[in-house]
Amino acid sequence: MFFDYADSGAWTEGTYKANEADFAAIKLRQRVLVDMTNRSLQSTMIGETVSMPVALAPTGLTGMQHADGEILAAQAAEAFGVPFTLSTMSICSIEDVAAHTTKPFWFQLYVMKDRTFVASLISRAKAAGCSALVLTLDLQILGQRHKDIRNGLSAPPKFTPKHVWQVATRPFWAWEMTQTKRHSFGNIVGHAKGVGDLSSLSSWTAEQFDPRLSWSDVAWIKEQWGGKLILKGIMDPEDARRAADTGADAIIVSNHGGRQLDGAPSSISVLPEIVQAVGDSIEVHLDGGIRSGQDVMKALCLGAKGTYIGRPFLYGLGAYGKRGVTMALDIIRKELDITMALCGKRDIREAGPDLLHHRLPVVE
Ligand code: FNR
Repeated sequence: MFFDYADSGAWTEGTYKANEADFAAIKLRQRVLVDMTNRSLQSTMIGETVSMPVALAPTGLTGMQHADGEILAAQAAEAFGVPFTLSTMSICSIEDVAAHTTKPFWFQLYVMKDRTFVASLISRAKAAGCSALVLTLDLQILGQRHKDIRNGLSAPPKFTPKHVWQVATRPFWAWEMTQTKRHSFGNIVGHAKGVGDLSSLSSWTAEQFDPRLSWSDVAWIKEQWGGKLILKGIMDPEDARRAADTGADAIIVSNHGGRQLDGAPSSISVLPEIVQAVGDSIEVHLDGGIRSGQDVMKALCLGAKGTYIGRPFLYGLGAYGKRGVTMALDIIRKELDITMALCGKRDIREAGPDLLHHRLPVVE
């Protein structure tokens, strides 16, 4: 059920599939006889130096893919020199991750109806030294994911003999889970009013996403936080302009990895119009469907300053823990480096529209 949770999208999964498929339609320009020595993938995202412009996206329940999953992923990202974003819905808490890392990570915030709790999350992220707040705007209400419903991964969760069977047939995972020393849903359980255990958590969570969230809330959060702010879940040029007007540091063009509005276009297909709408007024990042270094290159060429991966690092984490996350990042780094070189560039910051090939459509 946790693999399905990561591996699925909303309803028909059309948007989820388009996120991946639309990258394939973008073609790169091959160049030859250019000096390709001394290449650099180093760049910046919201002013922070990154070893390549690829961050780990916030993902909920990551500690169920592997015991202490958020801590392991954060450590892998730290060693690699890329940002890690901890989800509000993580299993390991902000404090758990801070205690096991040495560099600041980013914290992703969901705005709950209980604003006192939201304010306390912001204070905890500040106290833990988080260097950016990623405010997710596209989950005022939860999209429907059929696989999760079928698996009973809903609020309240339904435990069936099938779950007992799934655990029994995955003894290694089950054993590993007994080794975790972190609290379940450490950002919420024991911190939010009335949430002391997992059953009170599920009814509380189902009630807490706030359908009334508005631009004035963004201003309130910006004021409470006072640091670098990234607005996640922008898919429309008009929303992008409004986001830039808030004075935030970056937006993430994202449809939540196809997990919210099924039927929305892929994030890569709307990137150019959003970049055009905001110009230089705000940094633009992108996530959704990035599965290779070529995809990263294409997003950068179309105007993104940074990218994020969700599922690719979760697959690595589930398979091999921290080593798996490092492997996923390594694969992307190698692909990005070779792709950049074969496009005739030595510095990733030079990626631009001139590296894209506009082929005429083939007439059959
Ligand atoms: C997510 N995503 C997400 N986003 C967010 O802001 N807070 C969250 O808690 C989660 N949780 C979550 C769980 C899982 C299992 C997935 C796959 C995704 C969305 C995530 O940050 C990102 O937008 C997408 O994952 C990007 O798409 P790819 O890289 O997975 O295709």
